[in-house]
Amino acid sequence: MEIEEKNYWESFYAKNRFFDTPSPFGTFVLPFIQEGTNLLELGCGNARDAFYFIEHRNIQITALDQCGEEIAFLNEKKEDLNMVFEAADFTSYRKVEAYDYVYSRFTLHSVSVDDEKRTLQNAFDSLKTEGLFFVEVRSTNDELYGKGKSIGNHQFITDHYRRFIVMEEMIENAINCGFKVLYNIQSKGLARYNTKDPEVIRLIFQKGSRLTSS
Ligand SMILES: C[S@@+](CC[C@H](N)C(=O)[O-])C[C@H]1O[C@@H](n2cnc3c(N)ncnc32)[C@H](O)[C@@H]1O
Repeated sequence: MEIEEKNYWESFYAKNRFFDTPSPFGTFVLPFIQEGTNLLELGCGNARDAFYFIEHRNIQITALDQCGEEIAFLNEKKEDLNMVFEAADFTSYRKVEAYDYVYSRFTLHSVSVDDEKRTLQNAFDSLKTEGLFFVEVRSTNDELYGKGKSIGNHQFITDHYRRFIVMEEMIENAINCGFKVLYNIQSKGLARYNTKDPEVIRLIFQKGSRLTSS
């Protein structure tokens, strides 16, 4: 399934190389991002949000995607040396206490629940203390829920794989990794695209301060 998924997204981005506007989630997150920091993006696709962040903030961005061809294209086209695009599986990417922010839009519903748990733990380990993890995902109330072939546990395959998320379950998985929940919402109106208005989940997790012992 992984190869098919990767091929699906490679051909999608070959036809959708540029987006001149950020996602609504990108504009929501921007005010949280401070100058002189760094951010890891999981599953950047054509990197519209990474380009938006770098345009508005003096930060360093590492953006990952499984699509090697799209990543090669982005590395060729980027003009900003503060951006690094890497072809990698974000579920097993971990750099201890390296980042101020981790950003994941519409990617955690692209992977299995075990991969979600591993990604949450890797994001936690990769963040500096007080660092923030921004997540937007499709919920089980999405109008696409139930479309395609069901493979159980809220997972469906149409032309590609989606696993619709129960907010409380993702929150519990994040807390189990050590995260605090700073913000959570599930609503329509947050990710409108053309005629579509899916009910999505937005979450901001924070890596808490270390307990100090004297
Ligand atoms: C729905 S797209 C979202 C793209 C982008 N974040 C956006 O909002 O426009 C999902 C992206 O996640 C990538 N992806 C899915 N699973 C991945 C994995 N395990 N490792 C790296 N990238 C992955 C896909 O290649 C695709 O680019």
